[in-house]
Amino acid sequence: FGQCGRNISSLHRPIENVTVVGGGLMGSGIAQVAAQSGNNVTILETDENQLENAQKIISNSLARVAKKFFKDDNQKSQAFVQEISTKITGTTDLKRAVANADLVIEAVVENLEVKHKLFKSLDEAAPARTIFASNTSSLSISELATVIQRKEKFGGLHFFNPVPLMKLLEVVRTSETSVDTLETFLNWGKSLGKTCVQCKDTPGFIVNRLLVPYLAEAVRMFERGDASAEDIDIAMKLGAGHPMGPLELTDYTGLDLGVFIMEGWHKKYPHDPLFQPVEYQKKLVAEGKLGRKSGEGFYKYKQF
Ligand code: NAI
Repeated sequence: FGQCGRNISSLHRPIENVTVVGGGLMGSGIAQVAAQSGNNVTILETDENQLENAQKIISNSLARVAKKFFKDDNQKSQAFVQEISTKITGTTDLKRAVANADLVIEAVVENLEVKHKLFKSLDEAAPARTIFASNTSSLSISELATVIQRKEKFGGLHFFNPVPLMKLLEVVRTSETSVDTLETFLNWGKSLGKTCVQCKDTPGFIVNRLLVPYLAEAVRMFERGDASAEDIDIAMKLGAGHPMGPLELTDYTGLDLGVFIMEGWHKKYPHDPLFQPVEYQKKLVAEGKLGRKSGEGFYKYKQF
């Protein structure tokens, strides 16, 4: 297939009602793009404060989109934000959240136990037709699916941050994901305006599988003193055409996230040389140097 929806038969069901579980950074973005493409969206969160937070993230992001579309036409901008916002509702009631869902996407904290508990309840509460996806970055999709009955209706839909801007969607199938589910994922991804790539359930899928070991090697290179942070970043920008150097990118995504992902993979595949923990990065994290968000990582940042 390659691109979303290319060469796909029309067996799949259209998706109308989407439930996003977890309205944080990723869940809010997913809810927004789904609503923008015409879906009725329900966000399931743990409490009202988190729902409010999701609503804030979405209205700020929609305002930015409206400004791009309608420039200085405030009336049209406001009408746009209003129209999309009415397609999104929030709830803390799991049963209500999934009662009419065609597709449930999970985007809660990256913790296997939390996700297992959640998927078990979602599986029990959702109608038989509902298909499930996880937006996990680093956990195994097949392992997540062990707690549910409808394994053929389960896969990975891995979005990228910020969701409204990033064009890519990785569609991950397990050995049990049905062709119908896969086609539905691909067609839905296309309807959001994303370009889909397909991948088996392998650690990190495509992007992170290649990116995380590369970033780790850049940190090791810096630690060995082979080159300065600035020169490593300049080299990869001008020599490989990357928009950001590896250490800048590590600062941007958070040093703690890199450590977390690598440790999870190392635990599962202790002998894989690509998944060896980066001691220097762990030391920086222990010192509170998490990158941009803490004001310092490989570089120093002004705190706002
Ligand atoms: P986040 O921490 O911003 O949001 C998680 C949200 O889930 C929070 O609002 C929390 O209240 C909510 N939540 C936790 N337990 C819940 C439950 N049982 N029911 C309902 N809501 C619950 O996290 P973020 O960054 O949005 O990540 C979410 C998922 O997306 C993770 O699996 C992560 O691996 C994945 N991901 C993250 C990316 C990133 O760049 N941050 C990129 C791609 C995927």
